Order: sequence, then structure tokens, then C-alpha cells
Amino acid sequence: MISQAIIEELKIRCPIEDVISSYVTLKRAGSNHLGLCPFHSEKTPSFTVFSASSSFYCFGCGAGGDVISFIMRAENLDYRDALEFLAKRAGITLPDDRARDERGVSRKRLYEMNTAAAKFFRSALFESDAGGEARNYLTRRGLSQAVIRRFGLGFADGEFGSLRDHLKSCGFTDEEIIAGFLCKRSEKNGSLYDIFRNRVMFPIIDTSGNIVAFGGRVLDDSLPKYLNSSDTPAFNKRRNLFALNYARSACSEQLILCEGYMDVIALHEAGFENAVATLGTAITPDQARLIAKYTKKVIISYDSDDAGQRAADKAFRLLADVGLDAKILKVEDAKDPDEYIRKFGPEKFSELLGRSRTRFEFTVSRITSEHDMSNDEERVKAIRRICAYIADLPSSVEREIYSAKLAEMMELDIENIKRDIAYTIKRKKAEKKKEDHDRLIRDTMGISDRVNPDFAKRPLAARLEEAVLGMILSHLEYLSSPVDGKPLSSDDLCTEFGKKLFSFIKDAHENGGFEFGQLSEGFSQDEVSRAMKLFLAREKLLDNGPGVFSENVRRLRENAVSSGDGIDDIARLISKKRSE
Ligand code: GTP
Ligand code: MN
Repeated sequence: MISQAIIEELKIRCPIEDVISSYVTLKRAGSNHLGLCPFHSEKTPSFTVFSASSSFYCFGCGAGGDVISFIMRAENLDYRDALEFLAKRAGITLPDDRARDERGVSRKRLYEMNTAAAKFFRSALFESDAGGEARNYLTRRGLSQAVIRRFGLGFADGEFGSLRDHLKSCGFTDEEIIAGFLCKRSEKNGSLYDIFRNRVMFPIIDTSGNIVAFGGRVLDDSLPKYLNSSDTPAFNKRRNLFALNYARSACSEQLILCEGYMDVIALHEAGFENAVATLGTAITPDQARLIAKYTKKVIISYDSDDAGQRAADKAFRLLADVGLDAKILKVEDAKDPDEYIRKFGPEKFSELLGRSRTRFEFTVSRITSEHDMSNDEERVKAIRRICAYIADLPSSVEREIYSAKLAEMMELDIENIKRDIAYTIKRKKAEKKKEDHDRLIRDTMGISDRVNPDFAKRPLAARLEEAVLGMILSHLEYLSSPVDGKPLSSDDLCTEFGKKLFSFIKDAHENGGFEFGQLSEGFSQDEVSRAMKLFLAREKLLDNGPGVFSENVRRLRENAVSSGDGIDDIARLISKKRSE
């Protein structure tokens, strides 16, 4: 654990306005600063930095916290790495006891272990007899020695304990080997066995150059074709990308996003060193944000089958959400980029890149290919679907341009298209209004509250609990002030979230002092944001004095014992809302 004193030092050396200014253009607004939220797209600023409390909160999306939570979100880091990041920025060295998970496994040890494993796999590939078949396989797939070495490929032999024995002889413990997803414990006899066997091994390397995980491919048609490391204390497959460590310096102009390891390697071999792939999952918002750190433009180059094309459309949306200019490339007469390059060569692939399409073009061709365009009825259906797509675009300039394109393509009068789109927008607006209304009702009753699902059970008591917690967050001294002879205890609270938050604050307060940033250690980002919201909700009220606190605690206690069955509470809450 890093001591509280060091964290405070870190926060003093990294003033929140300074840190956030490297991500967001901030304008002064009274004693605070305002800017466009980096965590959701917005046109008017609702992202606020509070200098007095060294915290931020977005009134649009609810993201909030302190400078550490900000870095966790903005840089996709866990708590410990965010501290490391800020320390580097401030020129401080943190004590070198890397975060350990419950099993006492350190991340740094896992990196070292993965490096040892990668070397072991590499010598098995190049130097062992057993590696001969794997060498042939890679050559057959057209990989040169150079690219095999550049990607650090290796081979895991068919034995159950080669890697295990090697890692043990290097001094790694059973716990470390299991935590790093290299061996499992046999249920039969309790001994460790290698997870990757008879596979070509692909090391996955993060942008700092650490080997964080492996993917392994069989040499034939057996299943599963690929085996990938599960998440470990050193690896999260939803936050990393294959080959970004190489592509990062070649992708400032554009980046090619693929589905498979072999696609990426084939592309690098052919000179496209700006290719990366996800790690066996669909692309995640975290990965989209990671990409946005390195480039402005992405060419999605997925498999040509239906599944690949559907995944491409989803990827498009995620990438556009983080402000990236995305285009879609469709490989023709081949199943994926790797096969395409083998068949037609790099120049042809370059041409495909040049012909990659916008999402509009992609959508039109996908929809028209699903309808018989020579049949009037089918044609109408297709055009309706395309109009619905245009109606969904957020910018009216885009809608205008694509309406004109569609009219030209279908040889129709643009006025008709515009009318259809205007009608669709109107209908969608009405739908949305109804949805918002329903959501408001649900929210008032707390039914859709994911952070605090217990809210709905006792909304009135939960409201009081929120008020009490909010006041405690700004007045830690209330933790020990007695109300009717007894200080507040977690038994007085009525939701799991409230109890957990309360116990955490109290614990920290009694053990060296509570700091908002500590919440990130025990709570999810959404939970930290909620805590921030409770804090701000109270802070902006004028009177948070001890009298108000006592009164709220008293009412909370009353409501906790009164057997309010939720339904009554809801009825009271609604009639209270009405009378407000
Ligand atoms: P080959 O060319 O057949 O070697 O594979 P590829 O690189 O074209 O990959 P493919 O498009 O078949 O799959 C895309 C990605 O999905 C792979 O890189 C893997 O990460 C993942 N994947 C594929 N097959 C499996 C599987 O059987 N199990 C798991 N867990 N992941 C897989
Ligand atoms: Mn392939």
C-alpha cells in the first residue's frame, strides 16, 4: 500500500486544474472551471472542476471524483497505475511495492514471468525438434523469419509440465504461475500443468513494452483454435490491443483495426505497420479511447463474412463516439485481410484502403444487398431503412448531405426523402419523449438505479441516507458526533451501497484520514461518481450544520425502524414530488 502521506504529496504536486487542462480546455467560472466533458460527447460544457475541493464532476454524465479517478478514467488505468502515472508527471518515485492482489502476486513479477515464458517459447520454436512442425506451419502461412522474431512468436510443446518446470527453476511460485494464467492446478492430483500446449504462441505486449499475456493457436484444425490468457492481475483483454506497441509509432495518420492476430502480422509483414487487433472480443469503449490517444482515423478491416460486417458496424459506432473518423474496408474474394494479402499482394490491399467506405456508403450497400432492388415493394423497404439511418444522424448538415446522396442514388426527388426523414425524426422524438418520461418515473422511484439497487426498496429512507452520507463527505467530524447519544453506525443505514460507503469512510477516517481518492480502491468508477454526486448535492445547499445533520440522522433512524414497505414510501415520495 502507498501511504496516505505520499498520496497527499502527489495531489499537491499535481493540482487538479493543471492535470485536467492537458485533456480539456477549461474556462474559469467563478471559483471553479468549466469545460467539455472528455467522458461523453457534449456541445455545451457541463464538466466542472472544483478547485476548493480538488474534485471534478460532470453534470451531464455523472462522472466525478478526484485527480486520481480522473486519470483512471482518462488513461484507462487502475488505481495503482494512475498513482504511478501522476508520480511520473510530478517527478516523484513511488516506493517499489507494486500493487499486489489478494494472493500476494505482484504485477511486476508477472511481467518478469511472462518474459521468461516468452523466451522459453521462442527457444522451443527455433531450437527444439518439437518446434519443427510449428516452424513449418509459420512458413507455410507466409511469415518471414524477420516478422516471426519481431513479434516474438514461440511454440508451446505438447508436454504437460515443460513450462511449469522451467518457471519453477527460475524461482516463480505456484501462486504466481497460476495467477499469470500459464498453469492450472489439476483437480485430480493437485499438481500444476501447462495451459498452453501444442500451440504457436503470440505474446501480447502493452505500450510500455511489458509482455502482459499470450494467445496460442493450434497447428491444425483442432479446437479451440485460439486460446487466450484470461484476465490476470497484469492483463485486461478489454483494455489492450494486439500490436499497439508496434503500431503506436506508425499510426498517427491512420490505424487499421483487425479481428485476428494473423491479420495483423500479415499486414505488418506487408509493410502496414499501423495494424492492431482486439484480443478475441468485440471492441470495447476502453479500447476505442485507447486508440483515440494515438490516431484520428481508423480503418476497420474485419472478416468479410456476415458476423465480421455486423461487428464492423458496431465498432464504427464505438469509434465515432470517441470522436474518431472511422471508415470500413471490405476485403473482396477473401475471408480476411491475411488471406487477401496472400492472394492479391500489398498493392491491392493499398487500393482497398483507398476505397474504404464511410459508414453511410457501408450502410447503403449492406441494406440494398439485403433487398431485391428491382422489386418496388422491396425497394421501398430498403429506402425506408436507409432513411431511418439518416434520421438517426446527430448533425443536420450530415442529414442534408446524405439525403441528397440517397436521392441521387435512387433517382428520387430529394424533397420526398427529406419529408420521410423529417417524419421519422418527429416520430422518434415522440418515442424519446415517452421514454424520458418513463425513465424519470423509474428514476424517481429508484428502480433503474444500478449503483444502488436497494434504493427502490426504501426510497424515502434511501433519500435520507444519501443526505447523511453527503454531509459526512464534506464534514468528516460528523462521523464521531453523537446524535441522541449515539454516533451514526452502519446499522442505521438502509442500503448495501450506503453501508459499504459509510464503513469505508469511517475506516479510513479512523486509520490515518479519509481522502476522496481512496474510494477508487474499493469502489467502481460509477460508485465513486455517485459518492461525488452525494457530496456535491449537499455542498451546494446552504445549511449543512450539525443541527441539520442530527435531524437527518434522526429521521433516517425513524424510517429505518418504521416498517415502511417500500410501496408506501413510493406513494409518499410521489405525493411529495407533486407538492414541490
Ligand atoms: P487464423 O487466420 O485462422 O489463424 O486466425 P485469424 O487471425 O484470422 O483469427 P480469426 O478471425 O479466426 O479470429 C479472430 C480472433 O478471435 C483471434 O485472433 C482470436 O483472438 C479469437 N479467436 C478465434 N478463435 C478462437 C477460439 O476458438 N477461442 C477463443 N477464445 N478465441 C478465438
Ligand atoms: Mn485468418
